[in-house]
Amino acid sequence: MDIQKIRSDFPILQQKIHGHPLVYLDNSATTQKPQQVIDSIIRFYTSVNANVHRSGHFLSERASVSFESTRQKIQSFIHAKQTEEIIFTSGTTESINLVAHSFKNQFIKSDDEIIISEMEHHSNIVPWQQICKQKNARLKIIPFDEHGELIIDAFKELITEKTKLIALTFVSNALGTINPVKELIHIAHEKNIPVLIDGAQAVQHLPVDVQDLDCDFFVFSGHKMYAGTGVGVLYAKQKWLEKMRPYTYGGGMVKSVSFENTTFANHPFKFEAGTSNISGILSLGKAIDYLNNIGINKIQQHEQRLVTYGLDQLSTLDGLTIYAKPKKRCGIISFNLEDIHHYDAMMILDKLGVAVRSGKHCAEPVMNHYNIKGTIRVSFAMYNTTEEIDRLLVGLQKVQEMHR
Ligand code: ALA
Repeated sequence: MDIQKIRSDFPILQQKIHGHPLVYLDNSATTQKPQQVIDSIIRFYTSVNANVHRSGHFLSERASVSFESTRQKIQSFIHAKQTEEIIFTSGTTESINLVAHSFKNQFIKSDDEIIISEMEHHSNIVPWQQICKQKNARLKIIPFDEHGELIIDAFKELITEKTKLIALTFVSNALGTINPVKELIHIAHEKNIPVLIDGAQAVQHLPVDVQDLDCDFFVFSGHKMYAGTGVGVLYAKQKWLEKMRPYTYGGGMVKSVSFENTTFANHPFKFEAGTSNISGILSLGKAIDYLNNIGINKIQQHEQRLVTYGLDQLSTLDGLTIYAKPKKRCGIISFNLEDIHHYDAMMILDKLGVAVRSGKHCAEPVMNHYNIKGTIRVSFAMYNTTEEIDRLLVGLQKVQEMHR
């Protein structure tokens, strides 16, 4: 991988922040965009802009063809069996809400159970918690151990004949743990329980094959994988999409409408009411082209080198606690410096041009597990370098000096 060539594709990385070259280590919150993705958004509004699947004129046809070819790119990127199994949403959160809404209305009754884990992002907790409250069902939690790894025996014990769905993150956004989702899905399927995988922190870092995983649902966001904001994907097995009723109602998702009745379009359109974020979706297609050109395996290897180097370097600092040391980790490291508030550390790093996230990372139960208020989190992308980790280290040393 030619990192300098990659970096030159990302115009935002060329700027200085507070007089220092930007070191962007907040990629789990959102990644930066290559020029190719930015250009695709400009090109759409400059020469293509039209609504899709509606008007039939030249521009509308052109927009529709690009829109559907993006669906095919996503299908092949995650190796779904059929293009129709790809639903465009506004992001991971909407994808999860869509499934939760459908389960609430169709498949969950009083006393049923849904299982999630202790390391979920709020977006994979709150929708399930709320539907459980509404249906008088029970939310059960798989704990994680001292290594930040899910306790599989505890998971097996949580499953009962009342379990209706299991929703798990592939990669923890707060700890970096890569969960053994294939094994967990296999355990769930032995009891015929469907599984939703939150892939928001996975698809941009490691190869994903939804048929090999055999998950029932797989969700992710465009903006965390180098595309624009406000666009995401719900992959669902055909058998579920056939059973599930629409989530939102309106134009574009119907076959025919009278005042007495409406018949719905087939999936995927049944789940895509209203005008989608067309330019965002096309930018996701470009981002996938970009990822494919470099190769997800190479990206994974590069980011693994960064995380190994980062862990080694961070361990040289006195009074630094790293939260969780899982055997399999993505490019995410959460830590704290003794007697220094994570927010203060983040602010000082920012003044040195180093962007990290501090706080609870939308994963408050993870913070509760450690009885802490938050952490400093660094998260890597394909364009990061070991020199940037050195800059982080210099910054953290400065933070410590200022607190002596
Ligand atoms: N889920 C995003 C993060 O982890 C926003 O920062």
